[in-house]
Amino acid sequence: MLPRADAGGSAADQRHALVLGIETSCDETAAAVVARAPDGTGRILSNVVRGQWEEHRRYGGVVPEIAARAHAECLDEIVMLALREAAVDLAGLDAVAVTAGPGLIGGLLVGVTTAKALALVHRLPLVAVNHLEAHALTVGLTEGLRPPYLLLLVSGGHTQLLIVNGVGRYERLGTTIDDALGEAFDKVAKLLDLGFPGGPAVERAAAAGRPGQFVLPRPMIGRAEPHFSFAGLKTAVRRQAQQAQARGPLSNADIADLCAEFQAAVCESLADRVRRAMAIADARWGAGPSPQRPEDHRGINRQGPHRHLVVAGGVAANRQIHRAVTETAEARGWRLHVPPAQLCTDNGAMIAWAGAERLALGLIDGLDFEPRARWPLDAQAKPALGGGRHGAKA
Ligand code: KG4
Ligand code: ZN
Repeated sequence: MLPRADAGGSAADQRHALVLGIETSCDETAAAVVARAPDGTGRILSNVVRGQWEEHRRYGGVVPEIAARAHAECLDEIVMLALREAAVDLAGLDAVAVTAGPGLIGGLLVGVTTAKALALVHRLPLVAVNHLEAHALTVGLTEGLRPPYLLLLVSGGHTQLLIVNGVGRYERLGTTIDDALGEAFDKVAKLLDLGFPGGPAVERAAAAGRPGQFVLPRPMIGRAEPHFSFAGLKTAVRRQAQQAQARGPLSNADIADLCAEFQAAVCESLADRVRRAMAIADARWGAGPSPQRPEDHRGINRQGPHRHLVVAGGVAANRQIHRAVTETAEARGWRLHVPPAQLCTDNGAMIAWAGAERLALGLIDGLDFEPRARWPLDAQAKPALGGGRHGAKA
């Protein structure tokens, strides 16, 4: 980590910092420009996202090699669009931020190489952003919320509960011992032939269904550590579908009922795990309101003296999960914060914002920074006991 050359009191720190953010870690090619004011508030000047569903659809999932090639083909154009929409040229930027991990290494290389080239040619600081940190900090951009807060991160590759203590300071309380929640949604959609990406398709189908028509387990409920497990639930959906198919083809109503029961099981499991994590956070923070550290405060705390639960990542776009977690938080007097759906799924604005936050602390990186396929937010966290395939995952 290099100290920023002009960190501390220069003219650049007294005005808005303009940061370009680049995201290529999975199957969205995205670029955005964000402005961060000296008081720590942020504004999105542009946010261009291009999905790659068409390229991957016939394989039923993201093919890493195809994803990397698709990023390489359109990233230049997406960056140019983001700059044009923001009415900013490269010379007017204060930094280039890029997702440097975790993610698919081919895509990460495309983004990081592009960002390094821009930083080198235009003499801009480079900020290597952890994709999970970008999801974690998005509420600072959307609502001005400052750490500490409890974070439920639910995406295609990760399902974690973390205490966010500040930029770069995370304590992981729980993680999945097998599949990530988004992965479970995608697999359920695939086995019910609902298309890709699976999360929104399952949510749409569930809207017309009735929970309770099929029987599914509520994984991990009551376990002391707030870990998750979704592989068994997905397998139970497959069994229930097969049993029903033995009696005849699945009707649309069956599929809707199965999706509704799946979502109900997910919501109950999440609510229980979140309650457990809230109890741990309560114990950490003591009896008083959520402590606000002066170094994270930066003069704004619009949220009052409450404890805060943030839900982020692609699955946070799910309205039923949103409702379930809202009830869980409110029942204990906590405030729930969920970024708008288009900032929950992968985008460049969250990368630019995380970059701007790091830049403000003088946290910039050298041009020798190498992308990381794995990059845990809490490097000290132990693998979840009973962890399966993803047990040691970030
Ligand atoms: O954060 P994200 O865009 O990419 C990763 O970093 O993984 O999350 C993508 C995941 C996918 O698994 C997708 O199916 C899921 O988020 N997702 C949803 C919904 N929208 C996206 N899952 C459930 N309900 C949704 N509405
Ligand atoms: Zn993501």
